[in-house]
Amino acid sequence: MRKILVLGAGGQIGTDLVATLREQHGAENVIASDLKTPESVSGQGPYEKLDATDAGALREVTQRYEIGTIYHLVAMLSATAEKMPEKGWQLNMDTLFHVLNLAREGLIQKVFWPSSIAAFGPTTPKQNTPQFTVMDPGTVYGISKLSGELWCQYYHQQYGVDVRSIRYPGLISYAGAPGGGTTDYAIDIFHQALAGEAFESFLGENRALPMMYMPDAIRATIALMEAPAEKVKIRTSYNVTALSFTPPELGAAIQKEIPGFTYSCKPDERDSIAAGWPQAIDDSRAREDWGWQPEYDLPAMVKDMLAKLRQKKSR
Ligand SMILES: NC(=O)c1ccc[n+]([C@@H]2O[C@H](COP(=O)([O-])OP(=O)(O)OC[C@H]3O[C@@H](n4cnc5c(N)ncnc54)[C@H](O)[C@@H]3O)[C@@H](O)[C@H]2O)c1
Repeated sequence: MRKILVLGAGGQIGTDLVATLREQHGAENVIASDLKTPESVSGQGPYEKLDATDAGALREVTQRYEIGTIYHLVAMLSATAEKMPEKGWQLNMDTLFHVLNLAREGLIQKVFWPSSIAAFGPTTPKQNTPQFTVMDPGTVYGISKLSGELWCQYYHQQYGVDVRSIRYPGLISYAGAPGGGTTDYAIDIFHQALAGEAFESFLGENRALPMMYMPDAIRATIALMEAPAEKVKIRTSYNVTALSFTPPELGAAIQKEIPGFTYSCKPDERDSIAAGWPQAIDDSRAREDWGWQPEYDLPAMVKDMLAKLRQKKSR
């Protein structure tokens, strides 16, 4: 079997994705890589410290391990990229081109690259946001995601590159720490609640956003990657979703499990970023084309998240 390389494996998604891919394919067949050397992925199987902006180093690792598939998870996320727009653009675009070019040359056969709900913008319909609609992102992160989607489609159409993509909503997980996104509040709130502390959300009380629990996100990612090529009809990026909630709705769901928990909202600049994003997404094309179906609703996600964080703390 040709091996799998995960770039940005030490991040929020990589931590869970690498663990699942290693369970499915055997640890020796999944090479984790990142700028840093996180224990979560480096101790459990092959690991390469790799700067994904270095095209030569990326090529060398790809050839040495006989890589067939790359999951490209390196990016500067929304809130961080707004603080350094040019660096964010460069990192997000340069690394995507390096990976797409390896596929164009035939060195690898398949690429996964995630887009985001940040690719939508202020004039995109906010309810039941369609797969094909106005996209006018107002952040450098969103601009890089929309541009990346179009480049993926271009490489597929012009060069036959098998690149597949999902527009992830905000992702909630217990294993990896969040990486500077606008939806990080929905993870921090669980840690504060378990610590017995009051929580202040940096998003406003009416700020509903599409969200997903990480186990669903990993299932969606792997289902898309395993789908027969002819079923993957969209080569920009697929809408996928599971949940949509405001900070008070999440707070109330946690309160049901931890009755003394209190929360409030004090919006900061991240609320303005989220104001340009959809509130709920139509993912019917992903359901029709490759059978996407989420498993976790809000109460199930909250119960599982609290249980897993309690287990983690007691270890
Ligand atoms: N987490 C979310 O809620 C979410 C939502 C939508 C889309 N996404 C997308 O999914 C992907 C992964 O997101 P994440 O939340 O895991 O991000 P993250 O910030 O947690 O992880 C990114 C990882 O990339 C690494 N990295 C940064 N620069 C690098 C470089 N030059 N070379 C190698 N590694 C480098 C970082 O060390 C980090 O471990 C990104 O493309 C992101 O835009 C994430």
